[in-house]
Amino acid sequence: MQKIDGKITAAKIKEEIAAKIQEMVAAGGRRPNLVGLLVGHDGGSESYMMMKTRACEQCGIRSSLIRMEPDVTQEELISKINELNRDNDVDGFIVQLPLPKHIDEQAVVEAIDYRKDVDGFHPINVGRLAIGLPCFKPATPSGVLMLLEHYCIETRGKHCVILGRSNIVGKPLANMLVQKAYPGNCTVTVCHSATPNINEMTRQADILIAAMGSPGFVTEDMVKEGAVVIDVGTTRVPDATRERGWRLCGDVDFATVSPHCSFITPVPGGVGPMTIVSLLHNTLLAATGEVYKK
Ligand code: GUN
Repeated sequence: MQKIDGKITAAKIKEEIAAKIQEMVAAGGRRPNLVGLLVGHDGGSESYMMMKTRACEQCGIRSSLIRMEPDVTQEELISKINELNRDNDVDGFIVQLPLPKHIDEQAVVEAIDYRKDVDGFHPINVGRLAIGLPCFKPATPSGVLMLLEHYCIETRGKHCVILGRSNIVGKPLANMLVQKAYPGNCTVTVCHSATPNINEMTRQADILIAAMGSPGFVTEDMVKEGAVVIDVGTTRVPDATRERGWRLCGDVDFATVSPHCSFITPVPGGVGPMTIVSLLHNTLLAATGEVYKK
C-alpha cells in the first residue's frame, strides 16, 4: 500500500507554478491577479479564503479579498461581479460558496464572466468540460487527477466508481475520467443516495473515489483487493482532544481500508492540499490566456 501524499505533491506543483510566474515576470509580463469575494463571516469560508490568498503569495500571484456583509443584496453582489468582469487587471476571481440563503447562488455563478471563472462553476465551463473542450476545470476534481498523474496511476480501461454526484466534485470527476485522455479513459460509475447495493458497485472499482461527505462510509468490505482509493471527504467532526474542538474526517475508514489498497489518500493531507493548487493553476492559465484567448 502506498499512501498518496497530497502535501508533498501540492508543494512540488506550487514550485512549478511559481517558476513559471517568475519566468513571465522576468520576461516583462505582469503577475497573475486573483480576487476572492467573501460574503459573511463563516469560519470555514474565512479559513479557506486565507489559505487561498497565502498560497497565491507563495507562488507570486497577486491576490486580494473583497469582503461583503451577510446582508448584502444579490444586486449589490452582482454589481461587484460586473465590476470585476470589466476590470482588465483582474485575471480571475472566485465567489466563495456557500452564500447566504437570500442570494440565488446559481444567478451569482452565471453572472461571472466564464473567461474569469477560475472555479470552473459557470455553465459554459461545465458544458465545455463535459465535451472535452478547453475550459477552467473545478479545483477538487482537478486535484484528484493531478494526484493520479503524479503517482503515475494507470487509468485507461479501469473501472472508476465515484460515490457522490455533487456539481462541484462527483459530476465533473465523472466527466473528466471518461474523456479520451490521461488521466481518463475510465469506465465510470456514479453512485448516489438512490443507488441500491452500493457495496456491490464499490467492490467492482479499480479506482474508488469517495465524495459524499459521509465520515467513514467506506469500510473494508466495500473495497476490492489492490484498488486505488481516493478520499475527497472533509467533514469536521467534534473532537474534544483537539484544541480547536474538531478534526477533519474523510469518507473512508482509513485504518481498515488502507491495508487492501495499492494507493490511498489520507485525510487530511490527501486531496485537500491539491484543491488550492488547482485554483493557482487556473489563475495562471487565465493570466496567460491559454484557455481563453485574451
Ligand atoms: N466552497 C467550497 N469549495 C469551494 C470552491 O472550490 N470554490 C468556491 N468558490 N467556494 C467553495
